[in-house]
This record gives sequence, C-alpha cells and structure tokens, in this order.
Amino acid sequence: MTAKILVVDDEVSLERLIKQRFRKKIRENKLEFIFAYNGREALEKLATESPIAVILTDINMPEMDGLTLLEKLAEFSETLTLKTIVVSAYGDLQNIRTAMNRGAFDFLTKPIDFDDLEITLNRTLEYVQKMKENLHKLHQAQSQLVQNEKMILIGQLIAGVAHEINNPVGFIVGNINHLENYLKDLLKVLNLYQTELSKPSEALQKQLEETELEFMVEDLHNIIASMKEGTERIRSISTSLRNFSRSDTDKKVAANIQDGIESTIMILKHRLKANNQRPEISIIKEYGELPLLECYPGQLNQVFMNIIANAIDALDESNQGRSYEQIKAHPNVITVKTELGLPPNRVVIRISDNGPGIPESVKQNIFNPFFTTKSLGKGTGLGLSISRSIVVEKHGGAIDCISKPEGGTEFIIEIPINTNAGGG
Ligand SMILES: Nc1ncnc2c1ncn2[C@@H]1O[C@H](COP(=O)(O)OP(=O)(O)O)[C@@H](O)[C@H]1O
Ligand SMILES: [Mg+2]
Repeated sequence: MTAKILVVDDEVSLERLIKQRFRKKIRENKLEFIFAYNGREALEKLATESPIAVILTDINMPEMDGLTLLEKLAEFSETLTLKTIVVSAYGDLQNIRTAMNRGAFDFLTKPIDFDDLEITLNRTLEYVQKMKENLHKLHQAQSQLVQNEKMILIGQLIAGVAHEINNPVGFIVGNINHLENYLKDLLKVLNLYQTELSKPSEALQKQLEETELEFMVEDLHNIIASMKEGTERIRSISTSLRNFSRSDTDKKVAANIQDGIESTIMILKHRLKANNQRPEISIIKEYGELPLLECYPGQLNQVFMNIIANAIDALDESNQGRSYEQIKAHPNVITVKTELGLPPNRVVIRISDNGPGIPESVKQNIFNPFFTTKSLGKGTGLGLSISRSIVVEKHGGAIDCISKPEGGTEFIIEIPINTNAGGG
C-alpha cells in the first residue's frame, strides 16, 4: 500500500529535492508525495485527496501558517491516523513548543537534513500504520462484542417466548384427552338413544339428516388427531427454541450435541421448506454414537446455525438461473455427520452442502471478520469469524473448510471431549 505524504511549504524547490531523494520509493509505489504551498491549500488537499498518512509542514507561510494549520487539523476526523511533522528554523524553540502543544508528532529543523527527514518520516509512518491496525482491531472487537451481546439478548428473548408458549400449549394438550374421552362417551350415549328410540320424531329426523351425523362422527376423530399433532409440533418447536437458546455464558455443561443440531435444523425449517423456486432442501443426517460433551451448548448451536445458514445461502445462490425441474433433478442436499475422532478424544461434526463451493481466493478470507461475498443486508461477514472464536477459543477445538473440486463445501468442526482448554 502506498503511504501518502502531504508536504506544505512555500519554497518551490523543496518539491524537486524531495522527489529526487525518495525517487526509488516513489517508483516502487511505497510513497506518494503531494504538495501544497500554504496552510489553506493543505486543508483543501486534505479534503479532496484519499487518506493522507503524514503531513510535513513549514511554519512560516503566506495566507495560513503551519501553526494555524495544526490548529485546524484538530477538526478533521482523520487526525487519529494522521501525524504532522513540523519544519522550523533552527533554534526556534518557541514555535516548536507551540507546534508540539497543538499536536505535532515531531519536528525537523531547517535547512532540512534529508537523512534525518527519511528517518523521521519512516518512524512516523510506522507509528501511523500501528495506529491504524490498532484502530481496526478495536473496531472488530467492538462489533463482535455488539454481535455477541445481540445473540445473548435474542437467546433470552427466544427462551422467554418458548416458555410463554409452553403454558397455553399445556392447557390444550391436557384438555384434548378429556375432550376425546367426553366425545367417546357422548357418542355412546347417542348410539344408545338411536337404538332405543326406534321412531324419532319428524323434527329430530330432519335435524339428524342436516347434521350428517355419520360423517361428523368420522371427521371428529380426524380433527382430534390433527389437533394432537399440531400441539405436539408446537411443543417440539418450543422445546427446540429453548434448547437452542440455552444461555450458558459462564460455565460449561455436559450436553448432547445431536440435540443441538436437531434444534438448529428445526429452527431453520422455514428456510429449508419448498418454495416456488425450488423443492425442499433435504438434510441427510448421519449421527454417530457420541458421549455427552462438556461445552457451551448455546454457543455451539450458534456455530451450527451459522454454518447451516451459510449452506442454505450458497444453495439458493447456486439455484439462480436453474429451473424448478433442473433443481429437482439435482436436488439441494445438506449433510450433517457426527462421529468420534480417532483416537476417541474429540467429537467431529461435518456439515456439507452440494452448492457452488468456494473459490480459493475467497476461501482464504472466510474466517476474517466482516468478510462477505453477500450483498448489503444479506451478509454481515461475522458468522464464520464468530464460529471460529467459539470453536477455537471457547472450546479449544478446530474448524476447517474444504471446498471440493466437484463443487460443494464441507465444514469440519472438532471439539475435544475432555478438555479444560478454553473458557471464559
Ligand atoms: N457453504 C458455503 N458455500 C459457499 N460459500 C460459503 C459457504 N459458507 C461460507 N461461505 C463464504 O464465506 C463468507 C463468509 O461467511 P460468514 O462469515 O458466515 O458471513 P456472511 O454469511 O454474512 O457472508 C460468505 O460470504 C461466503 O462467501
Ligand atoms: Mg453467514
């Protein structure tokens, strides 16, 4: 990357001298110098040029001097990653003091010693570079923090809603059985009436015909069966939601990984279902026999969620331009496989899809925070970086990605079974 340096001096000859001295670095695109002849012009350049790393400024200049320029610089938001070197007459301590007090990073004296200039410039550029890196890291950490906080909040919300749903569903489940028994009794009574009352009145006869009693009796059984199934489904969704959003930020607990995966798939069901563009995305499960795992289950669920959601995104993308029939002939498949790693001291979870795969150039970046190939609003680029930190830092495990040459992607997660690694 080219570092841009703004030189502010009313002495025109300086431009030639600097270009001469730094010609090699300029040719190699390591440095780029731009020039202004007073403070006012410097401010104009700052507003129009792409980020300037260092300003080298004289003090005495027409229109706006270097000290006033320093004062104005404080108003620029870029000043955090922009440093100023002041050039002053030899022995002009007063101005140097003022310049330093106004935020100058360093100073040089006239006539400029070009060796000294090079050393000072390099040191300042290094400092600016470090500063930029730190700022970037801070920004990343902040976003991850916000994201984690958000996930915890959403988790609590989901757990709360699931709990609220459970009570009313409980009424229904409990009462359906009573309802069924009452109905059976009622029907028995009705049957008896029918046999004993061999000659019903005309009005009763009419009513019986209108009610289509036989059909109704038959249908009642279906209705009750489907109500039972419906409530069962609500129950299992609510269990999944609670399971998925387990809050476990402080200590590890023994958990069944398979339950977590099942809950995650249940929650993603609406995205897997058939729609008018494509048939259902099928999920093949190959669960191995696994021991309970000491882990943060809620966080691992977040990892499964991120990876399976990415697979769905990738499949949907690969479906673009294919007809429903074409997709049906080569259906979208996600495979989830769990097994014990050999020697059996780790659990291995493989999640693969038969989507487009990941080009090598993209693959290098997928675990970096904010890296996304998706459009704004669709991707945050945080899914995999958060997943990696959960797997590696929180669980002492490993996460890797294989993009297969024949297309398709596989994510492999390994979690050690007996580990005190990671934590907090
Ligand atoms: N199964 C996959 N198939 C193809 N590309 C994938 C797959 N999973 C992840 N990627 C790539 O990795 C990138 C980063 O993923 P992620 O960190 O979850 O962020 P996001 O999903 O918000 O883009 C995605 O933008 C995509 O390019
Ligand atoms: Mg994602």
